[in-house]
Amino acid sequence: MSAKRKSIKGKSRKILVIHGPNLNLLGAREVNVYGRTTIAEINRRLKDAAAKLNYTLRVVQSNHEGEIVDLIQGATNKYQGILINPAAYTHTSVAIRDALMASNLPSVEVHLSNIYQREEFRQRSLTVGACVGQIAGFGMDSYLLGLQALTSVVRTI
Ligand code: DQA
Repeated sequence: MSAKRKSIKGKSRKILVIHGPNLNLLGAREVNVYGRTTIAEINRRLKDAAAKLNYTLRVVQSNHEGEIVDLIQGATNKYQGILINPAAYTHTSVAIRDALMASNLPSVEVHLSNIYQREEFRQRSLTVGACVGQIAGFGMDSYLLGLQALTSVVRTI
């Protein structure tokens, strides 16, 4: 295999994972809704799953909308896809939606809870329209299923 081909192959194996606001508190925050799994545990399981699929992950958690926009903008040409739980910004952020659209990368939106069974204001996602699809309601498994879905989309590109 040529060096060029190798580097294209290497590139095709990086995914950016973004956890939105308050997800740093998982395990302690509203455990009746989000359970006791911590973000560290989710990240560990995600990295294990990614390694089995031959992907490497960069995982970032941010409480700041602009920082998330910057991360998404910086992802083009560095990553092959984005796995994102925009958390509360799901329901409010035109800026994150626009950044996802502009990135030209396939994105999958995930939620621990089933947002469609919750308060009305959570039942609308502004960001999902910029994503290939959404997985919600399976707790930590939403992330693992989302990763699987995203990698299968990346493979077809
Ligand atoms: C969440 C659902 C959002 O409505 C909420 O603001 C979150 C977490 C979820 O993963 O279920 O912070 O994205």
